[in-house]
Amino acid sequence: MPKITFKNPEGARSKGPLTVECKRGLSILDAAEECGARVGHACGGNLACSTCHVYVEEGIDSLPEIADKENDIMDKAFDVRPESRLGCQAKLGDEDLVVEISEESLRAWLDENPDERKKLAAEAAEKKAG
Ligand code: FES
Repeated sequence: MPKITFKNPEGARSKGPLTVECKRGLSILDAAEECGARVGHACGGNLACSTCHVYVEEGIDSLPEIADKENDIMDKAFDVRPESRLGCQAKLGDEDLVVEISEESLRAWLDENPDERKKLAAEAAEKKAG
């Protein structure tokens, strides 16, 4: 089974990459949800936002071509790069992928998980207090 490695599964506080084996045809977003990587998904994977924006650093040629609608939605995304894809649309082929989660996706994930945002804020306050 092919694998997806998320380089920054918890954003800045990631302790290292997270690798998960996936069935061919699984989306990057579904894989992230299975392993706990923080890929946002404000529209629930319905191709109506850009919060699942990720960078596919290795294996991008094994993904299905980007469709017009995905391109249209990508126009709403921030910091788009040649390796940008929407995690809900990019489905795993036969090759392993290495993926970096975009800042907008990490922020969206925290919006969707307010308890985690509170934890982060508490940790930051603790650090500041010394
Ligand atoms: S989750 Fe909204 S476009 Fe992917």
